[in-house]
Amino acid sequence: MSKKIVLCITGASGAIYGYRLLEVLYSMGFKIDLVISSSGFTVLWQELGKRKEDILLEFEGVNLIPQGRIDSPIASGSRLVSYRAVIVAPCSMSTLAHIVHGTNQNLIHRVCEVALKERVPLLLLVREAPYSAIHLENMLRAVKAGATVMPASPGFYHRPKSMEELVDFMVGKVLDSLRIEHSLYRRWREDDP
Ligand SMILES: Cc1cc2nc3c(=O)[nH]c(=O)nc-3n(C[C@H](O)[C@H](O)[C@H](O)COP(=O)(O)O)c2cc1C
Repeated sequence: MSKKIVLCITGASGAIYGYRLLEVLYSMGFKIDLVISSSGFTVLWQELGKRKEDILLEFEGVNLIPQGRIDSPIASGSRLVSYRAVIVAPCSMSTLAHIVHGTNQNLIHRVCEVALKERVPLLLLVREAPYSAIHLENMLRAVKAGATVMPASPGFYHRPKSMEELVDFMVGKVLDSLRIEHSLYRRWREDDP
């Protein structure tokens, strides 16, 4: 199984999901290509007080690619096919719309387009509240095109005591969906074989 993965962070609320995914995948030894949209940087700063420099310092070796680098290797199917998955977390409604309508404006849209055409697993951790009919139609389009659409809405059956546990539940669900083993949350009746 490939240990190469693309992680994209866009400007939806929930930057903490992308940041925690980065932490977990990094600790698992994944080679991470990271693309953060300009709005993604705005929300990372707003919600977590993190800037580009902090990310580069904390995650040495992570390949942070500017969203404008449309000539990046991961923009090509010939390179992306060797990757385990493409994750967009959080995924804004704007990025979702670009993906499902094929209107590439940046590297994130392009890498998602390539993932769909090459059948590289694509996971979109979407976040908005409430959803309009446009959002819902776009999610359906994404699923029909082969993506996994996951709402950033954690469960509560594991009785979380902190925000970290809620975040880890969602991050764990993302990894479950990609069949990446983890122990980030207690599964339903975990002790019951
Ligand atoms: C603090 C903040 C929170 C936001 N939360 C959301 C959100 O939850 N969902 C969403 O679709 N857009 C949200 N937006 C708006 C997006 O950032 C905006 O649509 C942007 O154009 C998305 O661009 P991107 O998809 O290239 O990152 C938020 C913006 C800000 C500043």
